[in-house]
Amino acid sequence: MFTDGFLGYRTSFMLDFVVCALILIVPLLLYSLYLVKFKRQFTKHKWLQLALGIILLFAVGAFEIDLQIVHGGWENIVLKSHPEEAEFAAKVAEARPYLRVHLLFAVTTPILWFTTLVLAFRRFDSPPQPGQHSRTHKTLGWLSTIDITLTAVTGLVFYYVAFMTS
Ligand code: HEM
Repeated sequence: MFTDGFLGYRTSFMLDFVVCALILIVPLLLYSLYLVKFKRQFTKHKWLQLALGIILLFAVGAFEIDLQIVHGGWENIVLKSHPEEAEFAAKVAEARPYLRVHLLFAVTTPILWFTTLVLAFRRFDSPPQPGQHSRTHKTLGWLSTIDITLTAVTGLVFYYVAFMTS
């Protein structure tokens, strides 16, 4: 069960699931920023950001278990569509640099996201209002936003190169 993807490529269920989660997270994040910047609805922004953090944590956690433990690494997923040895080696070599760039953002995002959340929960009042923590929070908040967006974009590029092109 769940050994192939549902987007039409020879991937895995969890890989396709994370691709969808990454695509979904960007509009939800934009909505949360719209709420805080234009509507000044700080409490909704707070809970939406927490929910996004939890969704990300579960999606990425389940994905890593599936990829590393169930499949034994992304190369084994490439092997499904490139069983011939030379083709497989060429595809892995082609896709690896894209993965490295993606990992740069994918590793820093949870750290930034976690720091932004913890500091915001500690330093803003409840219900949240702009205050002394606003300056730091805006910097961390925008950095987290840029980082997650680049994680999503580079993840999709890697998916395209590794699994969608022959
Ligand atoms: C990782 C999670 C979060 C991210 C990425 C994030 C992102 C942002 C960003 C980018 C802004 C600035 C919008 C602008 O330029 O006007 C902002 C504002 C704000 N956020 Fe968050 N936020 C997060 C979590 C939270 C949490 C948990 C709270 C409350 C406990 C919170 C409360 C606020 C408040 C009160 C403002 C308005 C600050 C002001 O205008 O002075 N945020 N957030």
